[in-house]
Order: sequence, then C-alpha cells, then structure tokens
Amino acid sequence: MNAYVPICASLWAAHNTGMANLDPHSHFDPLQPRTRHWDLRWRVDFSRRVIEGEVTLHLTEPSSGTLDLDTKDLAIRACSVAGEVLPFELGDEEPILGRRLRLELPPATSAITIAYETSPEAIGLQWLSPEQTAGGQHPFLFSQCQAIHARTLLPCQDSAVARVSYDAEVTVPAPLTAVMSADPAGDRTQGGNRTLRFHMPQPIPSYLLALAVGELESRDISPRVRVWAEPVTVDKAAWEFAETEAFVAKAETLFGPYDWDRYDMLVLPPSFPYGGMENPRMTFLTPTLLAGDRSLVDVVAHELAHSWTGNLVTNATAEHFWLNEGFTVWAERRILRVLHGAEAESLGWAIGQKDLEESLERFHDQPELTVLRTHLEGIDPDDAFSSIPYEKGARFVAALEQALGEEVFAAFLAEYMRRFRFQSITTEQFCDFAEERHPGLLGRVGADAWLNQPGLPEDAPVFRSHRLDELTALAEGLSTGQRPAGAEAWNATELLIYLQHLPRELSLEDCARLDAQLGLSQRGNYEILVEWLCIAAGSGYSHVFPRVREVLSTVGRMKYVRPLYQALGRTEAGRALGREVFAEASPRYHALTRRVAQGIVDKY
Ligand code: BES
Ligand code: ZN
Repeated sequence: MNAYVPICASLWAAHNTGMANLDPHSHFDPLQPRTRHWDLRWRVDFSRRVIEGEVTLHLTEPSSGTLDLDTKDLAIRACSVAGEVLPFELGDEEPILGRRLRLELPPATSAITIAYETSPEAIGLQWLSPEQTAGGQHPFLFSQCQAIHARTLLPCQDSAVARVSYDAEVTVPAPLTAVMSADPAGDRTQGGNRTLRFHMPQPIPSYLLALAVGELESRDISPRVRVWAEPVTVDKAAWEFAETEAFVAKAETLFGPYDWDRYDMLVLPPSFPYGGMENPRMTFLTPTLLAGDRSLVDVVAHELAHSWTGNLVTNATAEHFWLNEGFTVWAERRILRVLHGAEAESLGWAIGQKDLEESLERFHDQPELTVLRTHLEGIDPDDAFSSIPYEKGARFVAALEQALGEEVFAAFLAEYMRRFRFQSITTEQFCDFAEERHPGLLGRVGADAWLNQPGLPEDAPVFRSHRLDELTALAEGLSTGQRPAGAEAWNATELLIYLQHLPRELSLEDCARLDAQLGLSQRGNYEILVEWLCIAAGSGYSHVFPRVREVLSTVGRMKYVRPLYQALGRTEAGRALGREVFAEASPRYHALTRRVAQGIVDKY
C-alpha cells in the first residue's frame, strides 16, 4: 500500500501552516484521522430503490478524537468500533454539502463500521424501471459520484484529497449482474440472490467509486479490454469500440504504463447524464456514442486518458478541475492525431472552440467561472460545470507544449505523472512543479492570465486547418443561397463542423432543403442530430418537433438536453413543446438532468 504514496506531503504542509478548509465541498478535515480503505457490504433493493448495508472505514493508523464524515440523504442506523456501539451526531442539512456525520473515536480506533441506507432520491444513483432499458425486462441501477455525490452512497471523507482503496460485496437479484470501478473478486448465487465481490487495490478519490446493476453481458475486445452492455446492445458496442486497445497502447506511449490492469467499459441506458465517466477499470458510457460508424470514439479516448490525468494525478478539489479535464482533452486529441491523423485532431480542436465560445457566452455574467483556477465556496460544482476547464484548460496545456517544444514537453509530462501519481494536487502544486522544472516557463506563457483571469488570453493557441476554413466558408455561404456541394460525402466530423458554423436561425426553406439533402433528422450520430435539431427547432421548423420530443423523452445526456430545451425556448410553439415534454419526461430524468432542464423551462 505504501508504494502508492496516498498522502500528499505538501498538502499536509499547507495545512500545518494554517490553510484550513482546502475543500469547500467537504467536511473532510486533513488534521483529523484519515480513511485508507473501505469495506462495503451492500444489498441492492430494487423494490424500495435503496441500497442497504454497511461500510467499515479503515484508518491509516490507530487514532482517537473527532472524525467528520460527509453524508447526504443517508439514513444512519448505527455506528460501532470493535463491536462496541459508538454514538454519532448528524448535523443539519446544508444546501450543497449535505449533513456532517460527527464521531468521537475512542483511543486506538483503527476501524469504524456504519450501518446505513441510501435514499430513493440519492443524487448519486439513478434507479431505472425496465421500460427505461434497452431490453425492457429488468430494472437497472447506476451511480455517478463525480463531483460530490459519493456521500449519497456512503458516509465518507468525500474529498478527492482523501484517497482510499476498497473492497465491496454487493448482493443483487439473481438474474442481474453488478459491475464496479474495481476488479471482480468472486460471485456466488444463493436462493434468489447473487453476491458479487470487488477489489480496488489502488487508492482512488471517492468520486471514482462506481456501481451499476442490470442485465449485462460482455464482449472481449483484447486481453485487457472488455465492453459490457445490455444483451441487445453488446455486439453493437463491441463493434463501435473495437479500436480501444489501440487507444490504450498509444496512451501508454504518451504517459507511461497503464496502471489499472484492465480497461473495461460499460454502455449504460440512455438516461446517463454524461457522455462518459472515467470510473477506474470500468469507464461508464452513454449509448448515444453507438453511432454505427465509430465516429464518436473520441469520448473513449478521453475517458481512457483520464486513467492518467485524473485517476492517477487527481484534482485536489473541484476548484482545480481543469487539471483533470484540460490535460485529458489535450491527451484525447493527441491520441486521435496519431490514430486518425492531424486533420482529425485539428477538427477536434475546432469543435472544442465552439463549445468554449458557448460556455464563455453562458457565463457572460459570471466571469469568475471562466477562470481555470476557480473559487467555488458556496457554489455547487454541478452549477459551475462547463467546457471552460476542458477547452481553455487544453489550450493552456497546448501553450505550455508550444513553449517547451514537443519533445521537452513530453518528458515534462512523463515526469509530472511520475512525481504525482496516486496523489490529488492543486493548481498551485502544478505551478510549483512547472516552475521548478522549467524556471520562467509560466511567465513566458502568461500562466496568470490562463489560470486566474476570465475569458481566453489573446495569444491562446489557434488551431487552423485548410479543411476547417473550407467548411466554415461553406457554412457562411448558405445564407447566400449556396448548396453545400459534396456534403453527402462528408464524414461525421466535417458535417458537424459545417452545422456548428451555420447561423442559429435559418429560413424554413433552408431547413427543409438541408434536411432533405442530408437526411439530418434521421441521423444516428447524436452530435449531428442534436446540432441539427437545435438549429431547426430554434428556427421554428416544426417538422422536427416529433424527433425533438423523442430525443428529450429518452436521452438524458446533459450536453444534449440543455441546448435542445434552450433552442425550443426561442419560439412560442417550441416553448409549448418544451413545457409539455418536460412535464411528461422529467420524472424519468436523472436528477442532474432534471435540474438543468427545469432551470431552462422555468425561464420560458
Ligand atoms: N469526468 C467527466 C464527467 C464529469 C465531470 C462528471 C464532472 C461529473 C462531474 C468525463 O470525463 C467527461 O469529461 N465527459 C465528457 C466527455 C467529453 C469531454 C469527451 C462528457 O460527458 O461529455
Ligand atoms: Zn473528462
């Protein structure tokens, strides 16, 4: 265990010099005893939509005194130390943090056991009825803990600086399977129940705890890569993600050996609120990636890259989220450059540029959320979420690379990984490291503007390509009545860029013509489909309304739900549809998606 260096020495130093409350989103106190390992025993009850069970928190060393844990919507049944009942005090509900669970540990406590139950409303879990799955026969459960929802699954020090390994024993109804962000370690069926065991030997931040339960099957892609999905989806998924082993091999040349043994993926039902989540050993993916032509595998490259940037070197708190996402987007594009060519990489940057511009626009009145090193006291990380840490972050990484040159930067990155592996670090620690290795580098790239100033620095790297210029010119030409010649032969990325550069409002004739020429409303690639539906619905082209309704009734990925409701908001007929779909479909949304959609519909 010591080999993983779970405790970050410089963070301790920071605290000893009086810097309290490093993590504004947790009751975790670095001066208190620390958890090093969880033993979970969970029973998954679909009829009541709760997980009932126990966790034993093992401490790094025998300790005594106050221990504060994070909880949210948990019913705490009992706490004990070495078989003796331990009184506990549950604090008042705080809006973002939840309720503090305070324990007074007797001398030489090495482990605490807490019996508890989750709530059907736990934001970290979504319980699906059989109708919400592809197979339609069995219920489904999945977790999504990032950024601060692990505390709705178990009482814990729910801060990324408090890394833990874990073992779990999960009991589910016999026809179902459970997967976790861990290695399978046994499976037995007894009566109507199946108990699966899991083992995660490396210390991970709490937000990487993950569980999914459903009717699942798997297909091997390579000796270390496997995809899981519902039986009706699994072959399609295996085909779509067949390149994944090549991604892993490439990522290893960028960052060093893959440290997590296996890279498995799980394709979830469509209500999953994200494109992907980098749960270690088991990336979670939205089924909207199954375009049938491998055109959306950049999300897999991204989640895989997190195995290094994020899971190995982790942001200390949500205020340093760019360290996870900025490096990962940069890495994702580097992987794609090698495997799909330089053009694919630059078109990836172009798509990101649009996302970045939209986020800068969205936070026009909250410029403090457009810095990379954020200050989120009193702000829910889910509300601060945007493309800024991703795309501004990746451009900052690219600026560092341009300043050092590709080769020197590669060596710097490899050393960064070695230096901070299995640690959770702050932006300041990153800066100290960069300054130590390359004195003057941060000044040369204007790091302060990147990290602490709103918006995008004027000298930010710009990624141009001949193809991008052609597509942009064609999109601009539409308003002069030009047909996009040859568009039928474009690949998915080219078409997406073209659509992204069209005006947000087109004439009804242009809408009809484009749809007829390019079959946009029938596309299976959700990036293209949703981009199109946003333009068409926002232009009042009501022919697409049934398709918009269908998407909003099934797909929960916030990246799609947010702009679709916003586009509907632009016309009276659209608002009526938006209200109606929301009323009908939102009870089936993930709580995160519901909150985002509610916020938009309320403003109609
Ligand atoms: N870790 C994120 C998803 C996330 C971030 C969940 C913050 C909760 C809080 C994941 O790696 C991600 O970035 N997903 C993107 C993929 C895209 C950038 C390729 C997504 O879901 O769209
Ligand atoms: Zn990510």
